[in-house]
Amino acid sequence: MEFENLLADRTRLMDVNVIREILKVVSQPGMVSLAGGIPAPESFPIEIIRELTAIVIDKYASAAFQYDPTEGFGPFREILVDYLRQKGISARKEEILVASGSQGVLDAVGKVLISKGDKVAVEAPTYLGALQAFTPYEPGYIRLDTDEDGLIPTSLENVLDRGGVKFIYLVPTFQNPSGRTIPIERRRKIAAIIKKYDALLIEDDPYSSLRYRGIAIPTLKSLAPDNVVYISTLSKVFAPGLRIGFCVAPSVIRKWLVIVKQGTDLHSSTFNQALAAEYISGGFLARHLPSIINLYRPKQEAMLAALDKYFPDNFNWSRPEGGMFIWAEGPKGLDMETLYWKAVEKNVAYVPGKYFYTDPGEGTETMRLNYTMADEETIDRSIKILAEVIKSES
Ligand SMILES: Cc1ncc(COP(=O)(O)O)c(C=O)c1O
Repeated sequence: MEFENLLADRTRLMDVNVIREILKVVSQPGMVSLAGGIPAPESFPIEIIRELTAIVIDKYASAAFQYDPTEGFGPFREILVDYLRQKGISARKEEILVASGSQGVLDAVGKVLISKGDKVAVEAPTYLGALQAFTPYEPGYIRLDTDEDGLIPTSLENVLDRGGVKFIYLVPTFQNPSGRTIPIERRRKIAAIIKKYDALLIEDDPYSSLRYRGIAIPTLKSLAPDNVVYISTLSKVFAPGLRIGFCVAPSVIRKWLVIVKQGTDLHSSTFNQALAAEYISGGFLARHLPSIINLYRPKQEAMLAALDKYFPDNFNWSRPEGGMFIWAEGPKGLDMETLYWKAVEKNVAYVPGKYFYTDPGEGTETMRLNYTMADEETIDRSIKILAEVIKSES
């Protein structure tokens, strides 16, 4: 039987995730992937998880394997209060909702807030997974201008001044895909603008703990608490396969996020949340995080040094102080997707940047480079190969 005709209109809007398609090539033997966006397996605290598993079973017994409230496992939400306070966010336990990764929150946000034709304002470029979560609910996207310091506040003000924006979606720190971070002065301006227009902003913050240099910058949530849904995750500092994300949201929105989550999965894994609770409260995260940072910092430095050494002068790239990505921009007219297939022939993969834009035709000359998976020597060699491919085309 042919089932295509049974698909809902909404389902037909769910484009194949291009990054996953690209990753198919990446699994070919010998391929060096600068394309992925996933943590290095060496960053996972496997021995700690072994220890935590025993602790969780002793401490919580059957409660760790039972159905649990949709809002999240009590001891985990309690420890998140402290964890968030360290990020300058004051939230009561009742204000925190646990989800299956930050992606789980993004999906719920789409379901709760977006009606067909609503306007959602996003950075250009933006996180593809957020577009995947929102698009089935048929919003129209409004493009927010960015530069090397991320969102340009006047662009936000102009968009909000025109009216009709349902919400703004931002990744203010070590953005995926650009690696850019909005500096504090801009954050203050953005906070003032969203307060002035009484706008709702979704702050997606998966990367701020992965800081290799410089000092932490206050979250937008801490600057405009009543206007911001703050989303974060343990995917980059514990293990993404455990699927542990969480959010702090204004009360009306939080109430509906809980209701839609009930329909989605009742609650996120109790056992995994118990592991997470012990990971943070037992001081394991604080002890393990420096080793993740020490793993990624030299990789990032190796990539920046290789870009300086090999890339042509008509390219610019971001110099993030943390996170997992560097964004490179070539001269207008260069097509990074055509170059992608040439690079793949030489066993190097990246993500052509155009996929991170909502406006067709934008970003053809851009690329996203990830440095978490390869070792320093391989990073140097593959950036050299990419530079040769680029030079052969220009
Ligand atoms: C900006 C951003 N948001 C959300 C996610 C989803 O993360 P998770 O669902 O694993 O928490 C990612 C993952 O790469 C991301 O880069």
